[in-house]
Amino acid sequence: MSSDIFEKVKRIKEEIENAIPKSKEEVEQFRIKYLGSKNLLKPLFGEIVNVANERKREFGQLVNSVKVVAEQKFIEFKNKIESEVEASENSNIDFSAPSDPVEFGSRHPITITMNRIIEIFERIGFAVAEEREIEEDWFNFTAMNTPEDHPARDMQDTYYLKDSTEMLLRTHTSSVQARVMMSQKPPIRIIAPGRVYRNETISARAHCQFHQVEGLYIAEGVSFADMKQTLLYFAEEMFGKGTKIRLRPSYFPFTEPSAEMDISCFICGTEGCNVCKYTGWVEILGCGMVDPKVLENCGIDSEKYTGFAFGMGVERQAMLKYKVNDIRLFFENDKRFLKQFKSAL
Ligand code: DAH
Repeated sequence: MSSDIFEKVKRIKEEIENAIPKSKEEVEQFRIKYLGSKNLLKPLFGEIVNVANERKREFGQLVNSVKVVAEQKFIEFKNKIESEVEASENSNIDFSAPSDPVEFGSRHPITITMNRIIEIFERIGFAVAEEREIEEDWFNFTAMNTPEDHPARDMQDTYYLKDSTEMLLRTHTSSVQARVMMSQKPPIRIIAPGRVYRNETISARAHCQFHQVEGLYIAEGVSFADMKQTLLYFAEEMFGKGTKIRLRPSYFPFTEPSAEMDISCFICGTEGCNVCKYTGWVEILGCGMVDPKVLENCGIDSEKYTGFAFGMGVERQAMLKYKVNDIRLFFENDKRFLKQFKSAL
């Protein structure tokens, strides 16, 4: 009798070892049959009373080993089925199907304009110099020959850092001139693109932050005529061949003589329109011969060297070029506006 029971248990063990459930349902049936609350092994434990004393231990171990095998097999089947299900679900993915469209971005019109200006000057040998936006008063004003009582220094125009009379947000890229002159020897030929800040009331024509490109050329024998020729080249490249320039006397603390440059209106060709306010000309930049005091402030021998400088607002160039009539559009990040500008640069 007792050997029959041993045989029965061994057969169950074999059955378990040979079982190959093929689906989730079959795995579940396997669990119920061998590990569930009414599993096949349970009554076998009760059979131990019928086993001869000297074999009880052996029987107990055998039944236990069947339980262990059933548990191992169940885990093995469960994992296998789950990974098969997962694989078959994945295989439903159509890798050749077109993906969701990813929208391409476009460059900001200010970046496009700035890159264009840089590219025009790079072609005639100007190197790009970039400098800090948080600047010392000395580089922004003093070195640039801007006297203490100059209106540009007024707290209303300049953002000083909290509790400081020394550190400010640069009001123009002319501050880069001083930084470059103090770290390089002539000949110097740079353009300095970057962001500048002024405490201005925001309107369609003015903003408290905008961009400028500064230019500086210092060498022996640089003349006003060199400046004029360089700026004519720029105007034609930027606004089209045949564009004329006009220099009007002006004042900047850091240049002497100083001028403001107009270009012939590229919309109406001096006929008169609302872009040029019916004058035929539009102002695009300030320029002049570097004041000898500026050269001396920055450690350059003003007896030996001369130079010219110019500075332009990038927003202004972009507004003219793209006929944008409100500077605020450049800072609002409205995709409907930004999407209209495309560029290879
Ligand atoms: N820094 C001047 C401004 O912000 C622009 C400027 C004018 C720069 C004349 C120059 C220059 O280098 O020579 O309005």
